[in-house]
Amino acid sequence: MYDQNPTLDQQESLLPDDRQGEVLTREEMEQAAAGRLFYLESYGCQMNFSDSEIVASILHQHGFGLTRQFQEADLILLNTCAIRDNAEQRVRNRLQELRTVKKQKPEALIGMLGCMAERLKARLLEEEQLVDIVCGPDAYRDLPQLVASADSGQKAVNVLLSREETYSDIAPLRLDANGVTGFISIMRGCDNMCSFCVVPFTRGRERSRNAFTIVAEAQDLFNRGYREVTLLGQNVDSYKWQHPETDNWYHFADLLKLVAEVSPLLRVRFSTSHPKDITDEVLHTMAAYENICNYIHLPVQSGNSRILEKMNRTYDRDWYMERIDAIRRIVPDCGLSTDIIAGFCSETEEEHQDTLSLMEQVQFDMSYMFFYSERPGTLAARKYPDDVPEDVKKRRLNEIIALQNIHSANRYKQDIGKTFKVLVEKTSRRSAEDMCGRTDQNKMVVFPKENAAAGDYVFVKITDATSATLIGHMTEPVVAAVK
Ligand code: 5AD
Ligand code: SF4
Repeated sequence: MYDQNPTLDQQESLLPDDRQGEVLTREEMEQAAAGRLFYLESYGCQMNFSDSEIVASILHQHGFGLTRQFQEADLILLNTCAIRDNAEQRVRNRLQELRTVKKQKPEALIGMLGCMAERLKARLLEEEQLVDIVCGPDAYRDLPQLVASADSGQKAVNVLLSREETYSDIAPLRLDANGVTGFISIMRGCDNMCSFCVVPFTRGRERSRNAFTIVAEAQDLFNRGYREVTLLGQNVDSYKWQHPETDNWYHFADLLKLVAEVSPLLRVRFSTSHPKDITDEVLHTMAAYENICNYIHLPVQSGNSRILEKMNRTYDRDWYMERIDAIRRIVPDCGLSTDIIAGFCSETEEEHQDTLSLMEQVQFDMSYMFFYSERPGTLAARKYPDDVPEDVKKRRLNEIIALQNIHSANRYKQDIGKTFKVLVEKTSRRSAEDMCGRTDQNKMVVFPKENAAAGDYVFVKITDATSATLIGHMTEPVVAAVK
């Protein structure tokens, strides 16, 4: 009722003038799709995987069926990532493999979706002739129409970014679901303009989704047996939505409360938090609700204040450490992970050492670690030379990885002897006799199956640990668990 998204009709009226004449009715598109199969592969962040579930839902509504075999697909789609150059290289290599389908089935269409589509736009069709369809992250409602255009041999590109689109009204078609944990996208885009990052250019301006459609999606997942939702956004702490009738504003802490109140049996996670925006109010909300998981992914990027300023992160080392102190004070047993970039423009050896010393100070449970990859069009690409030699970047990255491995091993070892409440997700990959699931702090636990099933809460005593997994056994039969 409160949805502010453009409807399909309004969206079509946003198309450039030269597309207006070709717009098909929904019935015509369904007819054109009848019996055709699509194959969809996703790259990059969780947001992209979540978007793929929107894409699958839109195509399904228009009569396309899903296949897991690209060889039998009529429409092959790659939902792509542009965050680093190697992410784009992977997609290019994969496209070459997938294009072999065209030899047997010339009428098959290949489409590129997501951030790489947005970055390269019509170039992919014109200069590179790599794909038949190019569709940016805010144009997925137009995909059936783009397929129809490509069928008739016309250019099929829509890379318009929107200030409103949140796909609020589209029920995602859950792909690769374990039936226990699901993602809910709460906002799109990013307004932060970190100087290294291409996301603000590929995903556009930040906008928050209607809080009540988010709660309804969480409730629906819970009703279908899901027991954990992860609220997704590039910067969840800047979530901000105004109710159009009451004019009340809902910030991230308010949204967290609403979702946590769906059921005490529904775990709530979120990603990604931004050090400049994470408030004590969010931390107190986490502490107040047992089912909001005590885990925060808080990308630091660098431990040096000069580099942070050049990165346009708008906080310095002291600010970050103060936020870590607040987390430890308000949510004492909180799991912590981060993102780190090695070898950003002009980074000196001492500044790299500052990153290592910050890691020592915080002792992250886990990190995602990268070396800097210049992205065309970003502030850093325009203003700062990419002047740290590749071998130095890689050596610094290896030092960061080696230190993180030590910290992870320590952090996991510290859990030996403790008992955790674990949400069972699935059978372990290692053995059909074992199940796996996560602790509140997001650590993966493997334990003998006994009578545990996916979706149960169980208590597991930890007896052993690697640097990425806890190993243990249930301390109580499942019947006594809280489900
Ligand atoms: N080079 C290397 N890493 C990057 N990231 C974003 N842009 C770049 C880049 N140009 C990393 C950041 C971000 C994570 C999602 O990817 O650490 O938090
Ligand atoms: Fe990129 Fe910074 Fe936005 Fe994250 S917060 S998506 S790193 S611009």
